[in-house]
Amino acid sequence: MPNAEIPFLDLKQQYLALEPEIRTAVQGVLTSTQYILGPEVRKFEEEFALAHNASHCVGTNNGTSSLHLALWALGIEAGDEVILPVNTFIATAEAVALCGAIPVLVDHDEYFNIDPARIEAAITSKTKAVIAVHLYGQSAQMPQIKAITKAHGLFLIEDAAQAHLAMFDGKFIGSWGDATCFSFYPGKNLGAYGEAGAVLTSNSELAERMKTLRDHGSEQKYNHVMMGHNYRMEALQAAILRVKLSHLAEWTANRRERASWYHEGLCAISQIQCPNVHSLANPVWHLYVIRAEQREELQAHLTKEGVATGLHYPVPLNRQPAFAPYQSAKKSYPCSDSSVEKLLSLPMFPELTEKQSQRVINVIRSFYQSVDSKSQL
Ligand SMILES: Cc1ncc(COP(=O)(O)O)c(C=O)c1O
Repeated sequence: MPNAEIPFLDLKQQYLALEPEIRTAVQGVLTSTQYILGPEVRKFEEEFALAHNASHCVGTNNGTSSLHLALWALGIEAGDEVILPVNTFIATAEAVALCGAIPVLVDHDEYFNIDPARIEAAITSKTKAVIAVHLYGQSAQMPQIKAITKAHGLFLIEDAAQAHLAMFDGKFIGSWGDATCFSFYPGKNLGAYGEAGAVLTSNSELAERMKTLRDHGSEQKYNHVMMGHNYRMEALQAAILRVKLSHLAEWTANRRERASWYHEGLCAISQIQCPNVHSLANPVWHLYVIRAEQREELQAHLTKEGVATGLHYPVPLNRQPAFAPYQSAKKSYPCSDSSVEKLLSLPMFPELTEKQSQRVINVIRSFYQSVDSKSQL
């Protein structure tokens, strides 16, 4: 819905504000003629690791390959089972399938993240890893999940595609997992102008292995020590991401402020449930997702009033045709089943004005007021 009066996100406004910095950064790469990996990617890797208090960062060409790279480097292989939440984007599961392993789905908790209480029941003798997705920008309950993976000798991977700079219990995401995978898809909190991704880890051996695998299994050019892939990051994307990274803390603060405006304006509406925030979490609000009664009608009303919205995600993984071959598709997921038809993502981006957010709130309020008044007739 590109012409909505209030867009779902506004990448153009952000670009225009950064244009001089971006042009200089891009020009630098163009004249350097080092277009893939090289010093610009190395500098971005250092800065992104530092921003999360992590020791190592491996830049890649997108979030999906980051997840695959991490699982591959950890030795996940055919026949292994990897546990992940039912309500994530398909890429989390695809990375598992790319290793020849089996994605095992688990229902979500009240924060829309993998339910730690349900992980243990899904563990079998074939389970090798758990992927915790920090959905919508709120960290999963990592200390509890870490305790489970540690007790069972499993790898823990964090899918942080939506959660740059998110915190839990005063620590950045990435503090618990063996590897933490990011996407810099343009609409993410830190977005490239094209495809890009990264993996953070505190394990230097794992970082080296991922660097080798991302570059055709080579430590030196034309010396291939293992079969790998081409998951290299482009220097242009690294240069753009370095500019944007220097604004990320400020944008994150803006997102938090916008989430609080929505919360204040919407929490009193009885037909709406605002997002639950764990007492130890400090989310970065990639998405602001409410649960709404009469979601379809509300969404149509918002569209009519010029407010763009989204659904994340309209069809959970267990109901996707791609999951038909897997056992998980046949199980039931009561939390996901009861919430999926109510989810509605509201406009959320750092430049959203207070006036725009107030308009979104007013349109939602007036919708339910008219529903209430009709029901009293
Ligand atoms: C939770 C999650 N995991 C993985 C990905 C995949 O990232 P990419 O699109 O960069 O491959 C995304 C991006 O949409 C995502 O939201």
